[in-house]
Amino acid sequence: MTEEALTEEVVARLDGTPDLRLREVMQALVRHLHAFAREVRLTDAEWIAGIGFLTETGQISDDVRQEFILLSDTLGLSSLVDLINNANATPGATETTILGPFYVPNSPQRAFGDSMIEFDDGGELTTVSGRVLGHDGSPIPNAVLDVWQNSANGFYAVQQPEVQPPTNLRGIFHTDQQGRYEFRTVRPKPYPIPADGPVGHLIDITGRHPWRAAHLHVKVSADGFRSLTTHVFDASSAYLDSDTVFGVKGSLVADFRPSGDGPLQCSVDFVLTTDQS
Ligand code: BEZ
Ligand code: FE
Repeated sequence: MTEEALTEEVVARLDGTPDLRLREVMQALVRHLHAFAREVRLTDAEWIAGIGFLTETGQISDDVRQEFILLSDTLGLSSLVDLINNANATPGATETTILGPFYVPNSPQRAFGDSMIEFDDGGELTTVSGRVLGHDGSPIPNAVLDVWQNSANGFYAVQQPEVQPPTNLRGIFHTDQQGRYEFRTVRPKPYPIPADGPVGHLIDITGRHPWRAAHLHVKVSADGFRSLTTHVFDASSAYLDSDTVFGVKGSLVADFRPSGDGPLQCSVDFVLTTDQS
């Protein structure tokens, strides 16, 4: 039996998979997995170390912590899947980026201009405002913006149930009749992804850093438009060119501008694409 003949035998064993898409995915997976092992001449010890790593990754995961998604994020797979599935968006539409593990559904509904701050962390007060538009530039009234971000201490509320109120720095806002939205918050901070598990260890032994550039997350949706999952990155943040999960796109970087003695101002429009495009 040669190495190549073994690969082809495994692929052939999958020929009878009734679901054609599953067959395509599994056969390609086997071909690429075998090619990887051949390319690096994988040793027995490395194979068992890999099994141990994946076992640990599963064991540390639970309802709240998803270490496999973190692995996908830090290997650039999440961003690659995002690019594959959103590359054909209408030109001029706001670019997408990864969801991340800290999204919690059912954030509180907040009114136009309301604050999301429920915990005094000493962060820099900021007003975020702008419009939600169709790609022809027309304003979209009653669009929904689901927003979440970290506190000035670097953590999301979901990471600090004993410290922050669970709905701190989360909120659902709607655009007005002119497509405008506005909310008050604090300036987001750069933060390290959870680094105390196997993925953090891998980052460490490969000489990488675990930091994400400062950002806030937004999911924007409106009837008749494709939902948008994206970030707004702070233009003055560290790590914009080395974000550990490869989520930064130049078009998503925005200024947080001083405005006299008042809060910082960050102005961002979101341009949606229609369901059909
Ligand atoms: C986030 O932006 O919340 C995030 C994304 C990927 C990994 C960890 C955190
Ligand atoms: Fe984040």
